[in-house]
Amino acid sequence: MPLPAKVRLVEVGPRDGLQNEAQPISVADKVRLVDDLTAAGLSYVEVGSFVSPKWVPQMAGSAEVFAGIRQQPGVTYAALAPNMRGFEDALGAGVKEVAVFAAASESFSQRNINCSISESLQRFVPIMDAARQHGVRVRGYVSCVLGCPYEGQVDAAQVAAVARELYEMGCYEVSLGDTIGTGTPGATRHLFNVVGAQVPRPQLAGHFHDTYGQALANVYASLLEGISVFDSSVAGLGGCPYAKGASGNVASEDVLYMLQGLGIETGIDLEKLIEAGQRISLVLGRATGSRVARARNAC
Ligand code: HMG
Ligand code: MG
Repeated sequence: MPLPAKVRLVEVGPRDGLQNEAQPISVADKVRLVDDLTAAGLSYVEVGSFVSPKWVPQMAGSAEVFAGIRQQPGVTYAALAPNMRGFEDALGAGVKEVAVFAAASESFSQRNINCSISESLQRFVPIMDAARQHGVRVRGYVSCVLGCPYEGQVDAAQVAAVARELYEMGCYEVSLGDTIGTGTPGATRHLFNVVGAQVPRPQLAGHFHDTYGQALANVYASLLEGISVFDSSVAGLGGCPYAKGASGNVASEDVLYMLQGLGIETGIDLEKLIEAGQRISLVLGRATGSRVARARNAC
C-alpha cells in the first residue's frame, strides 16, 4: 500500500497528556497550551474531559478551558464524555465534538470506567442519539488494543468487535489505543489488518503510547497499512491514570519530523510546535519527552 500523501494529527496533549499530572495546572496554562497548538497549525485538539473529578481531578476545569480558548475556524476542539452526564456538561460548554471510550479488555474497562465493555457500549447509545440531535460529532476510542495491564495479551478479533460496534453506532472514526505501549510494528500491522476487515481503514486512527519506545515505529507500521490519522501528544506529555507505568503518547514533534521526512503533508509548523512543547514543559518543570525538541534545543 502506498504511504498516504496527507496525515491528520489529533493533538491529545491537553487531555491524555495533562490528565495524568498530579500537580495543579492552571486554566490559563491549559488555555495557552491549546492556543499555542492551534497557532502551530494543529487542526484537531482534544482539550479536556467531562469525567468524574473524583476519578480524574486534573480534568475538572475543562469547561473553563473551553471558555478561555480562542477558537479558530477549521479547528476541531474535542472532549471526552463517558456518559450522558459528561455529554450534557460538554454540550453546556459549547463542545462540538466528543469522544467516547471503550476498552478491548474487561478488566481495563472496569478499572477505567467502572463497567463492563458491553455496559459501556450501551451507555454510549443515548450519547450517540443526543449527539445526532445536537449536530455533535462523536469519535470512538478502543483502549488496550495491543495489550492490557491486567490481562496481558489482547486478541485482535476482540478489538475488531468493539471497534465495529463503535463504528456502527455512529462514531465517524475509531482510534485504536495502545494504552500501555507494549505493541510492536508487526503486531500493529496485524491489528490493522484484522480491524480493517471490519471498519474501513480511512475511519481508523492509531493512538500509541511510548512506554516501550515503540510508538514511532508503530506509527510507521500503521502508515504502511494505509492509516492516515494519528493521536499524539506535544512534548510526549502524559500517561493514563488507570494504566500504571504507562508513559505519554508518542510526541507530536517526533511524529511530525518523521512525516516531514517522508514528504507527507500535515499543515503543521515544526518550530512552533516545539515552542508549544517548551512552554508547557516549563510549566510542568521538566524536560520535554520529544527527542526532536531535545535535539533542536541542544543546537
Ligand atoms: P461511577 O462512579 O461508576 O459513576 O463512574 P456513577 O454514575 O456511579 O457516579 C459516581 C459519581 O460521579 C456521582 O457523584 C456522579 O454524579 C459523578 P457523587 O454523587 O458521588 O458526588 N459523575 C460525574 N461527574 C462529572 N462528570 C461525569 C460524571 N459521571 C458521574 N461525567 C465514570 C463512572 C465513567 C463517571 C468514571 O469511571 C469516570 O469518570 N472515569 C474516568 C475515566 C477516565 O477519564 N480515564 C482516562 C481517559 S481514557 C484514556 O486515557 C485512554 C485513551 O487515551 C485511549 C488509550 O490510551 O487507550 C482514550
Ligand atoms: Mg491514551
